[in-house]
Amino acid sequence: MFPQGDTRLLGVWDRMQQLQVDFCLPFELAFYDRCSAWLEARSVLDVGSGNGYYIEQLSKRFPDKHYTGIDLSAPLVDIARNRPGSVAHTFQCTSLSNFDGSTEFDVVMLRLVLQHLDDIAQALEDCARHSAAGTTLIVIDAFDSFRAFDPPCDELAALFDAFRRHQASQLRNRDVGSAIERLLPSQTRWEFASREQLRISSHGERHRLFAENYALFIDLLEVGTTLDWDYPKVRDAWNRWCTIPWGCMQVGLDVVRLVAR
Ligand SMILES: C[S@@+](CC[C@H](N)C(=O)[O-])C[C@H]1O[C@@H](n2cnc3c(N)ncnc32)[C@H](O)[C@@H]1O
Repeated sequence: MFPQGDTRLLGVWDRMQQLQVDFCLPFELAFYDRCSAWLEARSVLDVGSGNGYYIEQLSKRFPDKHYTGIDLSAPLVDIARNRPGSVAHTFQCTSLSNFDGSTEFDVVMLRLVLQHLDDIAQALEDCARHSAAGTTLIVIDAFDSFRAFDPPCDELAALFDAFRRHQASQLRNRDVGSAIERLLPSQTRWEFASREQLRISSHGERHRLFAENYALFIDLLEVGTTLDWDYPKVRDAWNRWCTIPWGCMQVGLDVVRLVAR
């Protein structure tokens, strides 16, 4: 699903990662601004840093940290390394499991990554290798129960449900926050600190960002997965929905904070 050599998939992911930061980050900042461990952190590991846009935007607001991004997609890491300002950060093409464990960070982040992995417990253990006692792990992932369309867009809602089932059939759980809470008793290194949900709406200038992002999401499922679907039909329905001036879509983010023992 993530780009290695396929240029169409790379273009889709590069743009979607930017759009999703642009419409979500203003809401996420409310969390960061209240998180003392984040405000005090000097070294940050962003696991699955993609095209580096999230680090770029975060570092503009929080320039007092050194950011390290790791990602298994070589072309996305290339894009990250070529961003203006990227020399201040470190980007490495590696999977989390292969990342050299000799460095510890004040904060480790997993944003929109765990939903794509088939072993969340192993990922948490891998993150613990880069954490000293007191390190904070910030997990930001989808919270699908907040997803809503007004007026309804049944075709896109049905595609989302099919995608959730498709991912579940490959042991990928989109309800990452609940999965972590269930797993915690078996995690010796991580202690639960907080969980909250953010509701992000497409009102105002975000309308066009949502419109483009979910058009690309349809393309992504068509070119990047084996999910068999009537894509032209859902694309038509979404394009029509986007022309409704008062139409509003909401999506949710789950923000889970763990602290290393
Ligand atoms: C949905 S994107 C999120 C990118 C970025 N965190 C953001 O929020 O914009 C997920 C990223 O995780 C990367 N990824 C997936 N599995 C990984 C793994 N095991 N180790 C490192 N990166 C991984 C993918 O290549 C992709 O760039």
